[in-house]
Amino acid sequence: MKKKIYIFDTTLRDGEQTPGVSLNAKEKLEIAKNLEALGVDIIEAGFPVTSKGDFEGVKLIAQNIKSSTVNALARANKKDINTAYEAIKEAKRKRIHTFLATSDVHMTYKLKMTREEVLEKIREMVSYAKTLVDEVEFSPEDGSRTEKEFLYKVLETAIEAGATVLNIPDTVGYSTPNEFGKLIKDIKENVNGIENAIVSVHCHNDLGLAVANSLAAIENGAEQIECAVNGLGERAGNAALEEIIMALKTRNDIYKINLDVNTEKIYRLSSLVSHFTGVKVQPNKAIVGANAFAHESGIHQHGVLTNRETYEIMTPESVGFKTNNMVLGKHSGRHAFENRVKELGYDILKEDIQEAFIKFKELVDKKKEISDKDIEAILNHGRIELEEKYKLKSFNVSTGNKITSTATVSLEIDGQVKEEAACGDGPVNALYNAIERLLGSNREIKDYNISAITSGADALGEVSIKLESKDKIVIGRGVSTDVIEASVLAYINALNKE
Ligand code: KIV
Ligand code: ZN
Repeated sequence: MKKKIYIFDTTLRDGEQTPGVSLNAKEKLEIAKNLEALGVDIIEAGFPVTSKGDFEGVKLIAQNIKSSTVNALARANKKDINTAYEAIKEAKRKRIHTFLATSDVHMTYKLKMTREEVLEKIREMVSYAKTLVDEVEFSPEDGSRTEKEFLYKVLETAIEAGATVLNIPDTVGYSTPNEFGKLIKDIKENVNGIENAIVSVHCHNDLGLAVANSLAAIENGAEQIECAVNGLGERAGNAALEEIIMALKTRNDIYKINLDVNTEKIYRLSSLVSHFTGVKVQPNKAIVGANAFAHESGIHQHGVLTNRETYEIMTPESVGFKTNNMVLGKHSGRHAFENRVKELGYDILKEDIQEAFIKFKELVDKKKEISDKDIEAILNHGRIELEEKYKLKSFNVSTGNKITSTATVSLEIDGQVKEEAACGDGPVNALYNAIERLLGSNREIKDYNISAITSGADALGEVSIKLESKDKIVIGRGVSTDVIEASVLAYINALNKE
């Protein structure tokens, strides 16, 4: 019989630790729903003790996700574990994941604890978590750099205390595939009671080896893989979910595992995560990059046209890329639009379709041909309902290479219209200064990014900005055929998320 591999997604926890990334509760729920539809076994929904926002996000996910297990992270102390439990207690399937560092360097310089104290803390906290939930996962942080004999003791202690999953993190992405595979094999052979627990791995990508290390672990007996969409995560990120899944599926002749995943949902999930986090997917990224299935050289194109298998080891359709990039236009009606939305994998309520169709019609007036990318932009931007405290009424800019840019902006704030003007270093800066003057505040722009969604002079421009205000970072996005308008819309979108 084929063995089962559990897919544990940590996009919403380790992935959210990507520098500059911050998701609100509704965005997290939307991602979690897509992970559930993909068939992920466990969703690590967050680290509830770290902030009220994170707690609320985990709670919302716990209330809404039914077929995947909802997991919350906690350090090995009662406050973290209690907070994690409070956040996930309503979930149909729930798990607490607690961790403590076990490498000499972490214990000496970070924890300032002896080996005995660490073992005692693990015993105490895993037992405590077990009084709250049936499923307890324990991670010896920096596991791959922990002295082996001590690591065995750590794992035995966690098993005796009731841990059902033992996760071995390569926290700093230091391992190599042979070495990491051997570590998993040694653990399976030397740890008492390991046959009663699931062995998991969590690999970071500092040397670009996270996926290779995870696959080596599977070859040596690991049963759970922790990964994140688009490889997000601390520093260089985690093993990429889409790469792990497609490697397991495409090379099932080697891995011989039972993988119950709807791979056609991958592309949609990847673009949603990229959209919400503001982290772009590089074009040559495996599986989900724009070039992943593009064939440039004549020889390759000829080969693919004759028989796709010459240069394609998996089909674009199998990960949800639509090769039939049908173009809609002025004469496309609601039916054609709705059909295309469904074909693109969106599951949207009737009233939302109506709203998206209105936006589609507005866009058709500005742009002759509407591609799949344009439709995705329309849909992604309307995904999360915001209470719109701030609405754009109008703006006006005067700019040129020999004058100082000046801008006037008119906003509706809680139903009241206000207007201000300001100058700035370029049109966008002038508009942002006018908005800040109008609000009487001074937010800091941490990042500003502009990109074209499709090609051509009439392409939709997408602006994403990161605003720091009230000690938190919010990401705003705006889309328009006019990049100045997209910039203003992105700013207002960020304000509405504060
Ligand atoms: O990288 C790491 O060690 C972690 C643990 C919390 C599992 O993220
Ligand atoms: Zn990690």
